[in-house]
Parts: sequence; C-alpha cells; structure tokens
Amino acid sequence: MQAVDSRFLHNGPQPLPPEHRMSDVPLDRLTSETAPPAPPNVMIIFGAGGDLTKRKLIPALFHLCQGQLLPDTFAVVGLDRLEMDDTAFRTLMAQEVEKHLGASWDRATWDRLSERLHYMQGNIKEEDTYVALCERLTRIDAERDTEGNYLFYLAVPPSLFGDITRHLGTVGLTAETPDDWRRVIIEKPFGQDVQSAKALNGLLHETLDEEQIYRIDHYLGKETVQNIMVFRFSNGFIEPLWNRQHIDHIQITVAESVGVEHRGEYYEQAGALRDMIPNHLLVLLGFLAMEPPNSFDSEAVRDEINKVLDAVCPLTHEQVLTNAVRGQYGEGIMPSGEKVPSYRSSTGVSPQSGRETYAALKLTMDTWRWAGVPFYLRTGKRLAAQYTEVVIQFKRAPKIMFKDADVEQMTPDMLVLRIQPNEGIQMSFGAKIPGPQMRVGRVNMDFCYADYFGNAPATGYETLIYDCMHGDATLFKHADTVEKGWEIVESVMDVWTALPARDFPNYAAGTWGPAAAGRLLKNDGRLWRRIEMPQGRV
Ligand code: BG6
Repeated sequence: MQAVDSRFLHNGPQPLPPEHRMSDVPLDRLTSETAPPAPPNVMIIFGAGGDLTKRKLIPALFHLCQGQLLPDTFAVVGLDRLEMDDTAFRTLMAQEVEKHLGASWDRATWDRLSERLHYMQGNIKEEDTYVALCERLTRIDAERDTEGNYLFYLAVPPSLFGDITRHLGTVGLTAETPDDWRRVIIEKPFGQDVQSAKALNGLLHETLDEEQIYRIDHYLGKETVQNIMVFRFSNGFIEPLWNRQHIDHIQITVAESVGVEHRGEYYEQAGALRDMIPNHLLVLLGFLAMEPPNSFDSEAVRDEINKVLDAVCPLTHEQVLTNAVRGQYGEGIMPSGEKVPSYRSSTGVSPQSGRETYAALKLTMDTWRWAGVPFYLRTGKRLAAQYTEVVIQFKRAPKIMFKDADVEQMTPDMLVLRIQPNEGIQMSFGAKIPGPQMRVGRVNMDFCYADYFGNAPATGYETLIYDCMHGDATLFKHADTVEKGWEIVESVMDVWTALPARDFPNYAAGTWGPAAAGRLLKNDGRLWRRIEMPQGRV
C-alpha cells in the first residue's frame, strides 16, 4: 500500500492496562465455567498410531480435560495395526503429548485422561476387527457408563473412509437409537475434484446419514475465523458498511513460510490450489460474504455459507488465463537467513514437477451485496512469512477536502482481520499529523486477542471435538459445501492441467510469490497489502 508516516507505524501490540479492558464481557475461553461438559461417550480413533493422534487429538482431549469439559463417563479407544496394550499406549501418548504441549502439560490432568485411554490392535480392512471393537465397546459402556454414544474419528487416509464406515455399518456400530448417538469425523482431502467428492459422499451416505458425518476443516476451529461472524453480526456499526457501496475489494492471504516438508508425494497430487483454496480459503470467504443467518443453528449458518459459494461466479476457461495465477518456488533465502532448496528438490517430488506451490485467484460474486466487489485470494508455500489475514479495503472518500494534504497519503481505509499469528483486528485510517500544516498520516487501531483473552493453549481441535460430542455441526462442512468448493475451482484445475506451466520455478523461496500475482491486482489499479510482521517489514 501507500507510504505511511513512520511516526505513525504501530510498534506491535501493547498489553492494555487492566482499567482499560472491558470488564463486562466474559473473557474466559472454553472451560466448564462457560460451557457444560460433553455428554457420556467413547471416542474411537482409527489411526491411533499416527501423527494426528499424538500432535492434535490427544492434546486437544487433554485441554478439554483441563477445562473440566470431559465427563467422568468418557473413554478413548485407539485402534491401529501396531501391537500394544493399554499401558504401552498410555506411556507412548504421555511422552508425545508432554513433548507437544510443553508448558500447558500437567501431571494431574494427564493422569485423569490417561486412565481413560484404551488401545486395540486391529486391521482396519478386516471384519474381525469390528466384531472385536463391538465387544470392547460393550465392555467399556458397562464399566464406564458411556451409554453407547460413539464418536468415530477417522485419522486415516481418505482411501480408507469407505472401508471403515462400511464395516462399522455391518456390525451395527453406526445405527443410532433415540437414546444413543453415533457420529463420524473425517478430515480433508474430501476428494480431488467435484466427481471424486461426490463419489466419496455417496460412499459415506451408503452407511451414514448426513447428520452423522462431521467433516473437519481445521480453519473452522480457529477462534479468529469464528470471530469473523461475531465481529460482523454482533456490532451494529459494521454491517451497514459491509457491502459494495462501501467496500472496494477484499483480500484473503494464507501465506506459509514452510515448504512441503515430508509431504512431497501428496503435494505432487494436490498442489496449492487443491490443498488450500476449495477448503480453507473458501471457508474464510464464506464467513466474510454470508448474509446474516436467522439464527446460529448449524443448518442456518451452513445454508448461508452454501448460498455464498453458489453465488461465486466460476471462472470461464478464458478468464482463468487472466484471473488465476500459479507459481512454484525455486531455491531461495528465507527472511531468517536460512537458505532453502527448491520445491523440485523435495523428497517425493519430480525434478521436472509442474505442480504449483502458489495460487492466486480473483473471484466475484453475483449477489446484490457483492456485485462488482472483487475477492482476491492467494496462498503459497515458502513465502516470506507464515501469516494469514483478511483485508477489507474500503472505498476512498469521495472528495479530498484538505487542499494542502499530501494526496499520496490519502490511502483508503482498511480493516485487517489477522487470523494467525498475533490474532486480532486492525483498523487503518487517516489522521491529522499534529502541526501547523494540514498533513494526513495513516494510523492503526489495533485489537490483539492475546491482550484481552490471554494466550490459552489450544490445538484448534478442542472446539471441534467438543461440538461434535454435543451434536453441533455448525463448524463442520456439509456434503454440499464440499462439492460447491470443488465446483468453484474446477475450471482452474482444467486449464492448469491442459496447459502446463512453462516458467516454473517462477518465484524464489522467501519472497511473496510470482510477479504475475502482483499484476493480478495492479491491472485493476490495486495492490496486495504489504504485510508487516512484528519483527520488521517483510
Ligand atoms: C492443511 C494443508 O490443510 O493446512 C497444509 O494440507 C497446510 O498444506 C495447512 O500447511 C495450513 O494450516 P495452518 O493452520 O497452519 O494455516
């Protein structure tokens, strides 16, 4: 954006003195003081030996336990191929969870959770496993009063979803009664395109009702993503401005400084577009663009999000050439000074790979509220910062009244919703620079989550698991939402497949992506917001 008077640059969040904090708002995060404990249930984790279980799921259960949000009538059954008994599983999880949680780990909470952890060795593809699981669950119900409520968490590759749900159905574990519930959580990728997403949904629906399926998009578990709705619909002053009359355009940036790490093989199939846009970035778009729902019931909220996705104008094949940009990183130097190799030299990646590690799109929406307002989306690996934000760029004032003001400085007002890190909201606007002359500087008003609510440790899975136990699907994706997400990017995938990129790699690691992404906005007379990280400008 335009130059800012350096005296007005924000120097990072300053904690507010207690007397300036709002005292009439509940500042507690999710704890038993603000929410009831989950109902009795057993959580069965398929793929209990995997990364997700130790890095996210058990740590999230630990935090729920710490907040007194798990009842005594709760148990976990971890299921995997490895030979292990309950004691060995508990010891393994203790080591891993302590390592991942660091300071938030405490022995008393762990002891309470640990004695509820069970393990079962079994082959996911064999029916015997499910017969044994049935018997195990019946015993646990009797011992722990878990009342036959089961949450099946499929922490396994999607190719196994169909096998697992079919077997669960065969042995009667998915059948609900008025007294007990059966729910299944799955994680992305939900297919690779519209067709495969429909096939996957069809497979799941053979055994499960849509209401039993909880599709996780971990972006929906992020507090700041949920806060977009609260910010819009609980503040009377915002909503009147939230439309094409006042908003010039919206930018959504999900930048990652990491590379593809150990996931080269997966990434070669997926790429930045499939990996991030139909899911995480469109979740953000949904919350930003939705109409106020009639209530915060899951159906009402999910309907409004689906309406947004319906209204996004899919790019024609011709428009893909001008409104979509792809990139792949070459070697480069990260802002930390670390020299990193190119994508093509990552393990599992072809040395001639044509897979994109960066994608940017310009989308528009065919609605009364958003007609003519572009939404610019960008995401990529090995960019200059690990940073996610939404920028709402307001229209310029209709007339420059201050004759002597430096017109260069009269940049439009901007609202920045920082999703991560340093979660918060920043309003940037013009203010008079003190002195005899009429000079205008940019100033920032900044709200940082941590100042008000502290830094409660969380993996992002706590709310999602807790909501699923309560049967609240608001933060989970409906089958339709998944399919609509794929429809929006389908033409881009078609064109990119048909016309392999000739200029890859086209950006150096540690930069902000390919030059063409800048031109995507420049052609419209706009610029990506220049992102400032707390440690300095990048
Ligand atoms: C995952 C993608 O869904 O989201 C990863 O598969 C990506 O490639 C990750 O790194 C980003 O999540 P977050 O929470 O770190 O922004």
